[in-house]
Amino acid sequence: MCGIVGYVGARQATPALLGALRKLEYRGYDSAGIAVLSGGGLVVEKAKGMLQVLEDRIAGREISGCLGIGHTRWATHGEPSDVNAHPQTNTSGTIAVVHNGIVENHQRLKEWLQSQGVVFRTRTDTETIAHLINYYYRGNIFDAVLKTLHKLEGAYALCVISSDFPDRLIAAKKENPLVLGFGRGENFVASDVPALLEHTREVYYMDEGEIAAVYGDHVDVFTGRGERIIPRVQHVDWDVDAAEKGGYEHFMLKEMHEQPRAIADTVKPRIIDAPGGGRDIFFEELPGTDFWKDASRVVIAACGTAWHAGVVARYAFERFARIPTEAETASEYRYKNPILDSRTVFIVVSQSGETADTLAAVRLAKSRGARVMAITNVVGSTLSREADVRIYTRAGPEIAVASTKAFTTQLVCLYLLALKAGFVRGALSPEDYQKGIAELLAVPDKAAEILARKGVIQKEAALQFNKNKVFFIGRLFDYAAGLESALKLKEISYTHSEAFAAGELKHGPIALVDDRTLVIALATQRALFDKIASNIAQVSSRGAVTLAITQDTSGYFDQAADQVFVIPQVDDAFSPLLSVIPAQLFAYYCAIQKGNNPDRPRNLAKSVTVE
Ligand code: M6R
Repeated sequence: MCGIVGYVGARQATPALLGALRKLEYRGYDSAGIAVLSGGGLVVEKAKGMLQVLEDRIAGREISGCLGIGHTRWATHGEPSDVNAHPQTNTSGTIAVVHNGIVENHQRLKEWLQSQGVVFRTRTDTETIAHLINYYYRGNIFDAVLKTLHKLEGAYALCVISSDFPDRLIAAKKENPLVLGFGRGENFVASDVPALLEHTREVYYMDEGEIAAVYGDHVDVFTGRGERIIPRVQHVDWDVDAAEKGGYEHFMLKEMHEQPRAIADTVKPRIIDAPGGGRDIFFEELPGTDFWKDASRVVIAACGTAWHAGVVARYAFERFARIPTEAETASEYRYKNPILDSRTVFIVVSQSGETADTLAAVRLAKSRGARVMAITNVVGSTLSREADVRIYTRAGPEIAVASTKAFTTQLVCLYLLALKAGFVRGALSPEDYQKGIAELLAVPDKAAEILARKGVIQKEAALQFNKNKVFFIGRLFDYAAGLESALKLKEISYTHSEAFAAGELKHGPIALVDDRTLVIALATQRALFDKIASNIAQVSSRGAVTLAITQDTSGYFDQAADQVFVIPQVDDAFSPLLSVIPAQLFAYYCAIQKGNNPDRPRNLAKSVTVE
């Protein structure tokens, strides 16, 4: 939630800040602002709405200055408005702050500051920070920020400038991400790496509690206790293009098309030749595999799409490894009194590695003695640092709010783990283990084959996008894939869509079915073809239009459903990797038909760092 940037160097700060903010709009886009030190004073420009509104507002005006900060907001305290937009300043306008996170004790701090005579102009928690820094300021901005941080409860990533210090900005991080970018005679701060790539590939992911004084020619980094540390600068080797749309109309479309590559990048490096012939699954991140032999159960905690990956994995772990497995939504799990023991394998899945509910589940599990294995896409994320072991999906940056390639790469990581666990435990024969590995290696080509037929889905979306409800039905793996399919559709097309376990229809949901309903049946498991065909017949006879997504090639579903989309042949257990792709495409094209921007769905943000 919220993107922050900072620049100090020899160039004009305004264009550098606006360019960097463009790359962070996925983090929030209800208002934006910049503060630039210009002519000895801070010039602050803010505007409700997307970044373009701010750009239009300052177009043609020269805000010259080589030090500045910027912000793109997803409101938490105070509605989106010009005044609530960041930067926030102290009363005299000499100190400006941009902030990502929530100051949980801001009300108490505000009341105390008011008792000292401070007059507040906004309802934001961030304004409290600006006034506190001012309160502690005795001629040293770094000390004032440090003292302020000690008073703040909650999460923050923040960047501060002062008109008294034209050569530096102060950056600090707790629980929300912040990256320093090192240039030549200029340095940068940003919430995420894509904002920096145009300028530098040398970055430092700030650690918990750290504070940095960033100058044009050097950077000083300190722990929260004020001890200097040497930052471990990393080279980022992503292409700049990888963080751009690359010729596609939307990031979401681009990211769906990246799935064959992303899946291959995630699977192939983990497949090695086995000493005795055949292939083996090897995660260099995992310290041995004996823990699988002792495992009594697997608990997977995650949110949204990542949770759906966990639901698929629940079936995979039980099928391949015969380990009882639960998939829990982290937002619920954090309030449980969980039963965990040393034989529980606790897996957390998160694209961003910054989801507040997921991190809370991690901290709870760790406090109960569990060892946490994280699957995440973001190197250096909070989750990656807090987990005991971490496995990275190699999806590359995912910009669209609706997750696609993150889901399929999370799935393949989980399948690899389930296959390995099954093999190590003796639950999976060597032949079936080899077959499972071969299935995963074949997925990229099959995914590409589906994407090449996207026109078929586009036509179907053009016919169906106006249905007032869409239900996905399926059993087991198909039900799990249906959950993700329904989420995609509701997120970006704003159509009411739900997934139902097909056998549950008759216990209630079928009452909702009428001639304004589209039912998409996920029918990929051969042993269950007859069952799902009956369910299709039940909803058809109540007026629903039906579409079957299946791997049957015999024409069996041609009789049952109005339309049929055939996915390539795949072992039933791996079918969600493929069946979800037409559903992603369907959601995308429905959103386009409705004139929605699929990359920036209303009310949603990419990284949900608040509860
Ligand atoms: O970054 P995470 O994987 O932890 O995010 C979890 C959810 O917020 C996320 O999957 C969300 O549901 C997406 N918008 C789904 O498209």
